[in-house]
Amino acid sequence: MRLNKYIAHCGIASRRKADELIVNGNVKINGAVMKELGYDVSDEDVVEVNGSVAKPDAKLVYVMLNKPKGYITSLSDEKDRPVVTELLTDITERVYPVGRLDYNTSGMLLLTNDGDLANRLTHPKHHIYKTYRAKISGILSNERVARLRKGVDIGGFVTSPAIVNVIKQGERNAVVEIKIAEGKNRQVRKMFAAVGNKVLELERTAIGELYMGRLMEGHYRKLTQKEIEYLKNC
Ligand code: URA
Repeated sequence: MRLNKYIAHCGIASRRKADELIVNGNVKINGAVMKELGYDVSDEDVVEVNGSVAKPDAKLVYVMLNKPKGYITSLSDEKDRPVVTELLTDITERVYPVGRLDYNTSGMLLLTNDGDLANRLTHPKHHIYKTYRAKISGILSNERVARLRKGVDIGGFVTSPAIVNVIKQGERNAVVEIKIAEGKNRQVRKMFAAVGNKVLELERTAIGELYMGRLMEGHYRKLTQKEIEYLKNC
């Protein structure tokens, strides 16, 4: 099996992240640094990633978490902030977040040790819509809605068409549902900023047709087999 795939199967990183680990010299085969992405790992090889021996996880685990604000979606943080995996108190497998949500964003986060699925869900070519509910400052005029729907420049990148629905427009702020198929860093916040509105609260409510439903903030559950099949084929 190719080295990057092997590392993804170990639940250490997505295939793309595995590529970075390999190129950066963090991976050793039988004690020697290996920088060939396509190295064919044999049964006898001992693979080390960041100094720890990596073995493929036997059991693939898929978790949906309703991430609260105030948690980061990495496995560790140099600022010692709480990390999402601390919430998964009875998951013994080493799972990692699929994509990321900002520290101050709440809502649906998937975690898995299935590197292939993680890769599929985060790769832009699959165009999987993620749904967000945003509370924003000010008024979202029809003209601004039209600009968000068409695509806006968020600093050197023009976003693809988004699906935008104003759920409630008050005097000072609005609640808006926005669906985007890309995952640029802080994309939703930047999109609203580009049309002149500040995001006050942001929650992800769905990934594709997978909805969070009644899962309470800070709680998690394993995905059903049907949900896993849906994600593998969407
Ligand atoms: N867009 C954002 O701005 N933040 C997130 O956490 C997710 C999408």
